[in-house]
Formats: sequence, C-alpha cells, structure tokens
Amino acid sequence: MERDRKAEHIALALEQKQASGRNYFDDYVIDHCALPEIDMDAVNLSTAFLGKQLKSPLLISCMTGGTDSARKINENLAIAAEQMGIALGVGSQRKALESPEQAYTFEIRSLAPTVPILANLGAVQLNYGFGLEACEEAVAMVNADALVFHLNPLQEAIQPEGQRNFTGLLDKMGEIAGKLSVPVIVKEVGSGISGALAAKLVAAGIKIIDTAGVGGTSWARIEAARAKAPDLDAQFVHWGIPTPDSIRQCKATPGASVIASGGVRTGLDVAKAIVMGADLAGMASPFLAPAMDSVEAVVDTIQRTNKALRIAMFCAGADTISALQHVGIRKAG
Ligand code: FNR
Repeated sequence: MERDRKAEHIALALEQKQASGRNYFDDYVIDHCALPEIDMDAVNLSTAFLGKQLKSPLLISCMTGGTDSARKINENLAIAAEQMGIALGVGSQRKALESPEQAYTFEIRSLAPTVPILANLGAVQLNYGFGLEACEEAVAMVNADALVFHLNPLQEAIQPEGQRNFTGLLDKMGEIAGKLSVPVIVKEVGSGISGALAAKLVAAGIKIIDTAGVGGTSWARIEAARAKAPDLDAQFVHWGIPTPDSIRQCKATPGASVIASGGVRTGLDVAKAIVMGADLAGMASPFLAPAMDSVEAVVDTIQRTNKALRIAMFCAGADTISALQHVGIRKAG
C-alpha cells in the first residue's frame, strides 16, 4: 500500500539511526579571518534562485505528500518557507497524478505565494507511463517554479516494490527539459551525482543539479529496513559519492548550477557547501520532525541555521553569498 509505504518512510527517516551516520562536512574547515573588516549585522545572506530573491540560501528538500499527515507537514513547511523567504520542494507527486483526490496534500502555493516551489517526480516514471503532459500537470498542481526529477537507483534496487528500468532516461529528461514551461532540476536522494553525470545532464539541457550525496539520510538503510535485509544495509549504507565530493565534481562542470544536499545539518555545513561551490543548500530530514510539530518549530530550525551561517560568513570575512564562494577551505587535521 502506497500510504503505508509513505508512513513507513517518514517513521524510519525520523529515527536518527536511519542516517548513514557519517557527516563528511566535518572533514573540512573554512579558512578563518581574524580581521574580517565587515559588520556582522551587515552580512547579507540573500541570494537569487529561479528568478526570485531568497532571504538565505536554503531549500527545504523534497519530502512528502499524499496523506492527511503529509498535507500537514507540507502546510507547516510552506508557511515557514514563506515567512523566512526560502525555497521549498514537495515530495513525489506520482500518486497524486494517478489519484487526483490526493492533489490537495501538495497544493500549498496559496500558503507560500512568493517563494520558489519545486514540483517532484521520479525520473524513472518516464519509463512507467509518464511524459510531458504528466510533468506539466505536476508543475500546475503546485504552481511550481521548477520541476525536480529525482534519481534513486539504489532505493529502487533495494525497495521490494522498486521500479528498476532506468534505460533511456537521460534523453527523456532532456527532451522534457526542452519543452516544459519551467526549468528542470535533477537530484539524487542520498547517493550523490558525479561530475561525469553532471556533464551529461548539462549537455542534455539540465543546468541545475542537486547533489543529494552520501552523508545524510540513507535510502539503502531505510529500504533495507523495510525489506528486512540487514545484509544489504551493511553493504550499501555508504554507497555513492560523499556530498562534499559531489559538490566539487558538479561545480567543475561548466554551466552547472549546484544545490548541495545530503547530510547538510547546520548553518556551518551550509557555509562549507557554499565555499565548495554550491549556490544553495538543501536539507530534508532536519525539517521533518519540526514540520510534524508546528510552523514555529520549522521557523526556529531555519533561524538557527541562518544564525550559524551568519557567524561563519563573518569569521570568514565574507559579507555576501558570492563572497563566501571565494573563501578558502581545507581538510581538517
Ligand atoms: C525524502 N527525499 C525525497 N526526494 C525526492 O526527490 N522525492 C521524494 O519524494 C522524497 N521523499 C523523501 C521523504 C523523506 C521522509 C525524506 C527524509 C527524504 C530525499 C530528500 O529530498 C533528500 O535528497 C535526502 O533525504 C538527503 O537529504 P538529507 O535528508 O540528508 O538532508
């Protein structure tokens, strides 16, 4: 049952042990500047994304929809995102396209009228009956500023009910990117995107790439728990590209704009991701428990993230996000 699967995903993602347990951002330190020559209060966190101005370089990564409790999560995220001026993605809209009575669980545009909202579908759906029309419907459902295709081969491989025919998807995504009314973004879900793939995506016309690398939520772990396959957990929990590596590889691809995600947990992680070349940082699971609680809890998470980001920028001598992208960083130890 799809409803049970979504509820299981949320329950498992909430358990800390479902993360890969290794934060790769901890391996790095940003160069310290003892004389920043800037006023900390004047540090400007704002940045542009999809033609809109964000108050800080944050994205609430795609998570959920489809059930009443998911509607509540999306509502709290949307109100908080609007209040704090950050971007927001919704979870996979596949089921809502197949069962339109679920669409209300995604329809949060009226709660977040001015910030970028991202629609979401699994790229593999393009091999299971979805085409341009379904993509436009997903965009229209949330009045989205962009459509995210997620790539999740490891999840589909371990998930008992997984959809595993990934043939021909690059061409199909490229064709849709050329025709869709809004930009297309491609993301992983926790195993990272390589520089080689980023180059192919850019050549196919997809210019915004979200790393969703290793270091945060592990879908190998979540699906192995559901499949009662601890051997697969042990083998694949760290499979993929650690997020800092994925950021650097994608950034080295000419023409790629990079969203960093996968294990981003703090404002300091956001700062490191931006120093490494990202334009924006996304977090999913850190927003899940707050979103199940209240708008205030989500706002508090964003405020704490912004505060640490501001401290890091001040002590790195960077008064803007673009200045932060030119700061030095090195491996710790
Ligand atoms: C996700 N993620 C996800 N991604 C996506 O593109 N479509 C989806 O429907 C979902 N669903 C989903 C549900 C839940 C409960 C979580 C925690 C995550 C993946 C998410 O967007 C992100 O890429 C990864 O979770 C890695 O980021 P974090 O969690 O380490 O910050």
